[in-house]
Amino acid sequence: MRKGFLAVGAVGLLALGSLTACGNESDGDQAGSGKTPKIGVILPDSKSSVRWESADRKFLKEAFDAAGVESDIQNAQGDKNAFQTIADQMITSGVTVLMIVNLDSGTGKAVLDKAKSQGVATIDYDRLTLGGSAEYYVSFDNEAVGRLQGEGLVKCLTEANVQKPAIAYLNGSPTDNNATLFKNGYDSVLKPKFDAGEYTKVADDSVPDWDNAQAATIFEQQLTKAGGKIDGVLSANDGLGNAAISVLKKNNLNGKVPVTGQDADPQALQNILAGDQCMTVYKAVKKEADAAAELAIALAKGERKETGQTVKDPEGGRDVPSVLLTPAAIYKENVKDVIADGYVTKDELCTGNYAKLCTDAGIS
Ligand code: BGC
Repeated sequence: MRKGFLAVGAVGLLALGSLTACGNESDGDQAGSGKTPKIGVILPDSKSSVRWESADRKFLKEAFDAAGVESDIQNAQGDKNAFQTIADQMITSGVTVLMIVNLDSGTGKAVLDKAKSQGVATIDYDRLTLGGSAEYYVSFDNEAVGRLQGEGLVKCLTEANVQKPAIAYLNGSPTDNNATLFKNGYDSVLKPKFDAGEYTKVADDSVPDWDNAQAATIFEQQLTKAGGKIDGVLSANDGLGNAAISVLKKNNLNGKVPVTGQDADPQALQNILAGDQCMTVYKAVKKEADAAAELAIALAKGERKETGQTVKDPEGGRDVPSVLLTPAAIYKENVKDVIADGYVTKDELCTGNYAKLCTDAGIS
């Protein structure tokens, strides 16, 4: 297991190591030269996943502080108008680079284009803005995230020896390009099984804005419609997975129906230790934050770096210079690796009844 983690680390380092400087840019709209570097970051919300406030904010701030660069990190709390207002205020206050996690591509694009017109360089952080104009896109290989989820569900169903499992999908927000990529990933694993008649898909719903409360309602409806017969839940992240688990608990089905996730939330890791969640996908957010901060600082100084990779924006047709990091699947056996990586602490995880489960899972 450690080997897997070290491999993730190595990929991360490689990605960072390949950000080679290619000197000052002289095109007119390039931010930087002459101005004091200041980086603005707009996070999307604090409800769809705890990562934004507990990991991204912390690691980005640490990276900017370590480089001695001024930063302003704000959270739009799921409000698209607030998102635009924050962006306007940041531009007025003189940020030289703006980094966003868009709430949807339309408002994201408006913000990126406005920044660009004011000479402020931009970065798409974690979510690609379709049709957008960001200089860089920094994220994980999101189709790989989805593949790990699909493979995880298959692994848990196979281990439980479930025949012809009935599967429900709880997809992410239809306005998040990542949700599309995650689905491409898990479909690539599960669709052949549906087509071959090995598995049946009994429900397939997207959760608007990744809203956890709505996810519980949607899953309740899926379960009712399926006559209580759902054998596996492909949930696109931990918040949605936890919503499904809460409904399964009410029906005494938790622990019997594997549920997937993403983000390695402390709550999800506890669900995994308790046997209520099959797996999660760990994304080393520190590496994502460090890579994005490195690019932002370069842009703020009027420099460009080679990322060695591009992603095609399917809407704008642009090849966007990108950094894509490697995700890792987490099961009960390797929950400890998330702690070893410093993402979650033992104290957060091993509270109350979880203390014994932690010891059993080799968390010391
Ligand atoms: C991120 C996930 C997160 C989800 C909800 C996605 O774009 O990649 O890590 O769980 O948004 O916030």
